[in-house]
Parts: sequence; structure tokens; C-alpha cells
Amino acid sequence: MSNVNGFGQLIEILKKNPKKIVFTEGTDARILEAASRLLASNFLAPILVGNPDEVTEAAESSGYNIRGAEIIDPNNFDRMDEMVDLFCELRKKKGVTPEQARETLSHANYFGTMLVKMGLADALLGGATYSTADTVRPALQLIKTKPGNNIVSSCFIMVRPSATGDNEVLAMGDCAINIHPSEDDLVEIAGETAECARIFGIDPKIAFLSYSTLGSGKGEDVDKMHNAAAKAKEKYPNLSIDGELQFDAAVSPRVARTKCPESEVAGHANTFIFPDINAGNIGYKIAQRLGQFDAYGPILLGLNAPINDLSRGCNALEVYSMAIITAALA
Ligand SMILES: CC(C)(COP(=O)(O)OP(=O)(O)OC[C@H]1O[C@@H](n2cnc3c(N)ncnc32)[C@H](O)[C@@H]1OP(=O)(O)O)[C@@H](O)C(=O)NCCC(=O)NCCS
Repeated sequence: MSNVNGFGQLIEILKKNPKKIVFTEGTDARILEAASRLLASNFLAPILVGNPDEVTEAAESSGYNIRGAEIIDPNNFDRMDEMVDLFCELRKKKGVTPEQARETLSHANYFGTMLVKMGLADALLGGATYSTADTVRPALQLIKTKPGNNIVSSCFIMVRPSATGDNEVLAMGDCAINIHPSEDDLVEIAGETAECARIFGIDPKIAFLSYSTLGSGKGEDVDKMHNAAAKAKEKYPNLSIDGELQFDAAVSPRVARTKCPESEVAGHANTFIFPDINAGNIGYKIAQRLGQFDAYGPILLGLNAPINDLSRGCNALEVYSMAIITAALA
């Protein structure tokens, strides 16, 4: 991971402007290992959600030094009344009562998200035990989309390490959040994914993927990707975009010469927009499991504050890496 283009840059950004990140699963051994490593650095301070005795005991029994970590207990939080009031205000259109708010805020995913909302932390990382939906839903409900965006989406940064240090870095969206994105959703996903790609040193060449290359196949899904690519070209005239493209035409110069010789993106694409979550989720995992790419993400895009989701199968190094990525995007 230390060789990812742009990753060292992310640490430099944080060193200039250190941040605080909330971990919602304060007793998880992987979180504690990553937290102990962050505590030994000077650029990112962990806040662990949980009962202090339980968190300390978990750290001791797994052998991680978390001395100096801030631990906040939802069941003993001195600003809980203020948090409940703010929660009710944010959810007033749903008619949430203070009793319901208090119950909801006893759950670490909602409590941690409110710590970010109240400005007590800059970022949040959860999902070591929570599902994606349970990590993301509080953010969608309380943090909301940033001004100018209609949806929250996500991308993966895919890194294939090279012995020469010249790693291959790609971006793929949206493989984790929007189940059936519309044409307009896909346009927004492309813009956000391209922006994220740049942070990781990618000069985005964006392919809207399909089973058809520029009209070779027919069908509603082909039209969707074709129209989305056309709308994206209009919306982002300075970005290199093409579609609809099959994956082979998108990445292989030889196939591109045969199927779509006029395309400037085909054969060189490095930023991939999938038609839906089925294609995207399967696609990134094929690259990860069969293509030897390391997958970093899902990185949530379009949220008003940086909150990210871990895979439940993650290891401590992935937690550490995602914490840095999340906080640097703050
Ligand atoms: C993200 C996800 C959890 C949201 O589903 P949900 O909680 O059932 O969504 P709901 O329709 O009940 O909406 C909850 C709130 O989030 C908002 N929301 C939902 N999807 C949103 C999106 N993509 N962008 C912005 N806001 C969104 C809704 O407007 C709603 O807000 P409100 O409560 O203030 O009215 C759902 O789309 C999902 O399960 N996606 C797939 C996750 C997954 O399994 N990924 C694969 C593993 S990585």
C-alpha cells in the first residue's frame, strides 16, 4: 500500500493538517491494531466508540497499545442530551421522538456518525462487523449529500503492485451503493469517481461499460450506458469519456483498434463506470481475486463528510490504509 501512487501524498496532507477519525467498532482486534499504529504516528488520532473498560481489556488481551486513544461510550456521554436534540432536529420530517433518538444513538454506527455531525471528529470508518447498509445508512440519513450532488455513490481504487514500483492504479464505480443507477446517477458517479481517481494520481480516462461497443449490441441497458456517456461528455467537457464500451475494447489497444479505432479512451481506459451494482461488485472482485489487484474501498463519494465502510473480511493493514484515505479526503 505504501507504494500506491498518491498514498504517501495523503499522509503528507494529513501531517500538515492532522485529523480525528471515529472507529465505531472499538473492541475489534483489527481496529485496535490499526488504532495503535495510528497512535504511534502524528497525523491521525483515533476515537474508539465503546465502553472504556471493554475497549481497554480487548486491547490488552490482543496485545495492542492504545494508550492516549480517546474512547467515547454512547452509554455515558456527557453531551448526549445535545446529541439527542440535534438528532431529532435532523430527523424531524420522520417524526422521531427523543426516546427513539436515544435508543438509536445507543448503537455505535449512529452514535459515531453523530460525533462527526457535531464536529467532534473529522471522519468515520466502520463496517468491520457492521454490514455496508448499516454503516452507510446513518450517513445517508444524517450527513446527507454535499451541496450540488443528488446521490451518494462509491468507487474502489484498484492497485496492482509491480516489482519495479510502477504500480497499476485504476478506479471503478459504483460497485457498492447504488443498486440500479439511472443515466443521471451514472453521470454523477463518473464525475465523482474521476475526481477521486485524480487524488490517487490517475489521469482519468473514463469508460462507460456495457456488453456492447458503440452500437454493436442492442437493448435498454446498452442505451442507458450510451446515453449516460453522452450526457457525461456534455457535463464534463474537459474529461476523456467514451461509451458504451465492452471491457476488452476499453482496456486492450489491439481490440480497440478493431472495434472502435476512433475512440481516444478505448484501449487506455483506467476509470470504469459499471451499469449497476451487480456488474460493479462482481467486476472489482474479479480484478481483486484473479487479477492480483489490491482493492481499496468502497470510498464513499458525494457525502457531506468523509465516512467509509470496511469489508467485514478486512485485516488491520486495510483498516489502517482506509483510515488514512478517509481522513485525507476530509
Ligand atoms: C445504501 C443503501 C443501504 C440505502 O438503502 P436504505 O437504507 O434501504 O435506503 P432507504 O431508501 O431506506 O433510504 C434511507 C435514507 O437514505 C437516503 N438514500 C438512500 N440511498 C441514497 C443514495 N444513494 N444517495 C443519497 N441518499 C440516499 C434516502 O433518501 C433516505 O433518506 P431519508 O431517510 O432522510 O428519507 C442501499 O442502497 C443498499 O443496500 N445498497 C447496497 C449496499 C450493498 O449491499 N453493497 C454491497 C457490498 S459492498
